[in-house]
Amino acid sequence: MSDYLTTLRELREKALRGGGPKRIEQQHDRGKLTARERLAHLLDEESFQEFGALATHNITDFGMGEQRYPGDGIVTGLGKINGRRVAVFAQDFTVMGGSFSEVQSHKICRIQDVALESGIPLIGLNDSGGARIQEGVRSLAGYGEVFQRNVLASGVIPQISVMLGPCAGGAVYSPALTDFVIMTRDNSFMFLTGPEVIKSVTGEEVTAATLGGPLIHNCRSGVAHFVSENEHAAIFLTKLLLSYLPQNNTEDPPKVASYDPADRMEESLNGVVPGSESEPYDMHAVIDAVFDRDSVLEVQAGFAPNAIVGFARLDGYAVGIVANQPAHMAGALDIDASDKISRFIRICDAYSIPLVTFVDCPGFLPGVDQEYHGVIRHGAKIIYAYTEATVPKISIVTRKAMGGSYVAMSSKQMRNDLAFAWPTAQIAVMGAEGAVRILYRQELVKAADPAALERKYVEEYRRMFFNPFRAADLGQIDEVIEPRETRPRLIRALEVLRTKVQQNPAKKHGLMPV
Ligand code: HXC
Repeated sequence: MSDYLTTLRELREKALRGGGPKRIEQQHDRGKLTARERLAHLLDEESFQEFGALATHNITDFGMGEQRYPGDGIVTGLGKINGRRVAVFAQDFTVMGGSFSEVQSHKICRIQDVALESGIPLIGLNDSGGARIQEGVRSLAGYGEVFQRNVLASGVIPQISVMLGPCAGGAVYSPALTDFVIMTRDNSFMFLTGPEVIKSVTGEEVTAATLGGPLIHNCRSGVAHFVSENEHAAIFLTKLLLSYLPQNNTEDPPKVASYDPADRMEESLNGVVPGSESEPYDMHAVIDAVFDRDSVLEVQAGFAPNAIVGFARLDGYAVGIVANQPAHMAGALDIDASDKISRFIRICDAYSIPLVTFVDCPGFLPGVDQEYHGVIRHGAKIIYAYTEATVPKISIVTRKAMGGSYVAMSSKQMRNDLAFAWPTAQIAVMGAEGAVRILYRQELVKAADPAALERKYVEEYRRMFFNPFRAADLGQIDEVIEPRETRPRLIRALEVLRTKVQQNPAKKHGLMPV
């Protein structure tokens, strides 16, 4: 064999070995796959076209001259997932902890550019200790280049970040700029500064898991959108998530064959709302019954569980769901729920996914802590996002739609296209007891039996407002439907709205109350 072929084969083999057998073994011992193994699971067989497989750095300080690995700790390229084209990168922790170098930056930027120019999703498999310390400002500048491209691609092509290792520093900011962050239960961590640095700066003692583990980011900070059992499940989830999304913002999401009848009436829904107005019920039961069987993919399930957001299908078409969850905090809207809902609305709007909103909400959560932390500003995001969204929007009031939440949760004034209500709907400015105490304060004070008088007025208020018919009479509700009819009604409505075209006034950009 000629010398140049031998050289090529040796280099290729070296590139496939990453940081070498010992480090690959360590990676496996931690229950982690290598970058190439991950890509093999993610992409359709034989679909991968690699870019920059042999690129290495040119640093000689800190003994770096001896640490040259073809590919420089990252595998990048194009491939297909279920026949659809995607751009991918996978950081290789076996090479200097997947640390982010100038070469890594060039390689990621290249596929970011290709993804944007070709209008295809970008998926990052992250496993990196952040900026490569030996490269100093080169690596910091490299992050800036990647972040810039994340921002420019935002809302144009779907960007998904899968966190498969201890990701620190700059390695978490690029994911934070993407549309979805997926973590795994055992091996993924995200923090700007690790436990050691925190201890030295603030004196706080914290473990990696309690600082930036998957439960923290899925349930508390809201940084991550999904937590998977393991790497295989995270990769499966990535493929599933992509199936609800278009290739880019000029296309529609793919339609799949539906095996669930479009005219299916769901009798169970007629009894789902309890007789007593304060009794909770699980909005998941409503959602599961309405949408195509087994099509619901909840997003941020652990964060702000008083609200539910997620993707599903109706007659095979992708839709976005926003719902209050009366089984948690009575479905009241707080700061976190506002952030969760408004972000999800914008994702659906960016990718032409119609929105279906289920309303059962007593209002925004009252409280000093909420006010101090800006519930006004955060709550306003919901109004802003619904109003700005031009995709088809349909709402269904199942029970309470009180005060600000009636207006904010996809009311007709928020440019909603169709407003349905169930006969159990209660559409009012506020709850009965509160309203009566304000309206009849003087009278109640003077009454011989204030409790009896209050009960009488509360009953009267309920009779007057705790139904959907006043709102329907005023045209605020388009139609009061039987709960069991909800699925066929939604399918019919979305069919009509599929060709909806709506424009917003020309502007550089609005000033969302972020
Ligand atoms: C160079 C690094 C590295 C880094 C890890 N390594 N991080 N090399 N630069 N940032 C190397 C280690 O030296 C080690 O090499 C190998 O990768 C594996 O790392 P371990 O520490 O053995 O692994 P583990 O115990 O699993 O710990 C992983 C880790 C830890 C939690 C990520 O390595 C760590 O804390 N790294 C530093 C994190 C950090 O602070 N990064 C800088 C962020 S600043 P050897 O040869 O010994 O096996 C930043 C600024 C950007 O990113 C800001 C942009 C806005």
